Amino acid sequence: MPLMEPYRIKVVEPIPVTTPAQRAQALARAGYNLFGLRADEVTIDLLTDSGTGALSAAQQAAAATGDESYAGARSFHRFREVVEDLTSYEHIYPVHQGRAAERILFATLLEPGQITLSNMHFDTTRANSELIGCEARDLPCPEAADLDSHEPFKGNIDLTALEAALTGPDAGRVGLVIMTITNNGGGGQPVSMANLEAASELCRRHGVPFFLDAARFAENAWLVTQREPGYENTDPRDVAKAAFRLADGCLASLKKDGIAHIGGLLAMRDGDLARRCEVMLTATEGFRTYGGLAGRDLAMLAQGLEEVTDPHYLRSREAAAAHLAELVNAAGVDTVQPPGLHAVYLNAGRLLPHVPPERFPGHALACALYLEGGIRTVELGTLMLGKEGAEGEPATLAPFELVRLALPRRTYTQSHLEYVAEVVGMVAKQAPLVPGYRVVESPPILRHFNARLEPVAE
Ligand code: F0G
Repeated sequence: MPLMEPYRIKVVEPIPVTTPAQRAQALARAGYNLFGLRADEVTIDLLTDSGTGALSAAQQAAAATGDESYAGARSFHRFREVVEDLTSYEHIYPVHQGRAAERILFATLLEPGQITLSNMHFDTTRANSELIGCEARDLPCPEAADLDSHEPFKGNIDLTALEAALTGPDAGRVGLVIMTITNNGGGGQPVSMANLEAASELCRRHGVPFFLDAARFAENAWLVTQREPGYENTDPRDVAKAAFRLADGCLASLKKDGIAHIGGLLAMRDGDLARRCEVMLTATEGFRTYGGLAGRDLAMLAQGLEEVTDPHYLRSREAAAAHLAELVNAAGVDTVQPPGLHAVYLNAGRLLPHVPPERFPGHALACALYLEGGIRTVELGTLMLGKEGAEGEPATLAPFELVRLALPRRTYTQSHLEYVAEVVGMVAKQAPLVPGYRVVESPPILRHFNARLEPVAE
């Protein structure tokens, strides 16, 4: 059967169509920051794949019969059954989104001065580790540094560096190892089962808790079936189950592979740790059977977590990302290789060599895509990841200047993605004319959300 979206559309929503003049005006009003746009000024919104997916009819049906009891709701028990079967963890807590799970686990498990190790911390994961006085240290595998290479598992952790950290002078300070699957910060690249097994074994040997940041667990499992020898004929759900079994617990934003608009998960084996987390959960999120979510959310999540490992769905999602990457590459724009599932990452640094990193080439490309075709994306470069110097100039630059085109689940069709590729191609043709940007106003932290900028004609 040829590849196609394995669903048909029952409910539709119009997408805004704007003129170039309207977009220029909107962007100037937003301080040249795409986070400042109103959604109705955006034609194709690829800002994130988080909470932006389309519900299935079965999820809507589940929501209609969601149980809103404060304690012990039927919807919680359904959610719990699905999560327990998937993860094998005994202690299962819903939370309102991923970062709440991070905050609760870290505040309970870690002490100031400790170290969290990861293949790559997502930005909120890093922030939650640092907020309690820990050091968040990334140990990406060396292959991750080459954006163009087609290595299959560039999301892996560097096992040599992990072993060195667990045996070296700082070993006593390592409080937690977190594997992010897939590795969002590192280009949406997957982690192999071999790498997970080895990391799990190292952590067990050195007595350090080993958790998964499982926001995109199904997408990681799918890529294992496609790329790792020995898993060719394995059901992606079984791969996901095997991955969870290797860890002591997980935190997850369920706004991604829960295919729901809100929700998160904290789950673990250790009953003692769970009871301590429960205190924080109850005080800051909600009682253990709802954790900040409505019964209808839990019902939709239980159903979404069943649907997300459907091989037809995952295959079509992989094909969509690959198709978009191919079209964009054919238009002369390089992308992080190989494409994963949740996003395509454009190499803005290479496309705009006339824009130096301190003039934010990723941000410049993201603005150009909006001005050209109303497409909203996000910069992953010096604006987001660099640190400012005293004069507001970035003192540290990001290692890469990328633009992420995140693909919401089941939301856009192939023709939408072809439109996106066409717009990327049009911008590529005028690349030498794309201006850099200067920050004119910026908050001290998380500046990419709120900074105001202006184009610089140099
Ligand atoms: N971990 C990973 C790997 C993530 O990608 C995210 C969110 C989180 C944790 C935090 O979860 O948003 O539910 O609190 N990523 C979104 C993104 C925001 O656009 O990549 P949250």
